[in-house]
Amino acid sequence: MIIACANQKGGVAKTTSVICLGGLLVKTGSCLVVDLDPQGNLTTGLGIEVKENQITSYEVITERATANDALMTTSSGLSLIPSDINLAKGEPEILSKVGNFGLLKEYLEPIAHQFDHILIDCPPSLGLLTINGLTAADAVLIPVQCQFFALKGLAALLETIQSVQKRLNPDLKILGVLPTMAEMQTVMTQDVLASLKKRLQNIHVFEPVPKSVKFAESNLAGEPINVYAGDKKLVQPYQAIADFITTGEK
Ligand SMILES: Nc1ncnc2c1ncn2[C@@H]1O[C@H](COP(=O)(O)OP(=O)(O)O)[C@@H](O)[C@H]1O
Ligand SMILES: [Mg+2]
Repeated sequence: MIIACANQKGGVAKTTSVICLGGLLVKTGSCLVVDLDPQGNLTTGLGIEVKENQITSYEVITERATANDALMTTSSGLSLIPSDINLAKGEPEILSKVGNFGLLKEYLEPIAHQFDHILIDCPPSLGLLTINGLTAADAVLIPVQCQFFALKGLAALLETIQSVQKRLNPDLKILGVLPTMAEMQTVMTQDVLASLKKRLQNIHVFEPVPKSVKFAESNLAGEPINVYAGDKKLVQPYQAIADFITTGEK
């Protein structure tokens, strides 16, 4: 199963969610995570420093190298296609290519069978890279921060997903919406959770991930949360999604 993690808002925990889910999925099988954001936070968050001669998602998406050439292994046992700021040049470069929405799907295909799960970390935009992520995926996970204006932008994202389903990837499913950085005792979080449930009647809303500084710390340490902190309350919401991915039960 290939899952894209997408939301055009930055700072909603897309990357953190990919790291956490990857860290849990790799305990049951092989897992590849693909960094599709020029900021390279997934790469650095897994403790990887991109060296001068390292092949990244930029070379893959612009057909300078194969996905296989870009594969790295992280200390937590995940396979990674890393990225760095070079990927920012990739989007304009592929703009004039025929079929440019399907490039990632095409280039991942030769290696996809090697992995039980593939997670794609999309950049904070609805541009060509995110569309490539959605076109390559079987399902999309949408992290939403429990904050004011959390739902703003969600309509645009759902419209983009619908367009992708209609024109590029009819099999794309919405895995669900994941409320992140939840502070359950606050009115704001309760408000966001209530509005999500009311507005998204046909979309599954996963158990919220609590707000905790441990997530930022685990990013800095370059480790998934389940490796960095054994705190069950923090891991459980991600474990529920990992279980759903592996067993199909929500
Ligand atoms: N549950 C959480 N509680 C507190 N901070 C979090 C949580 N999840 C993520 N963060 C932090 O929020 C910031 C943005 O997360 P990130 O995953 O980089 O978002 P995105 O990829 O959507 O831009 C990071 O500093 C990260 O460590
Ligand atoms: Mg990110």
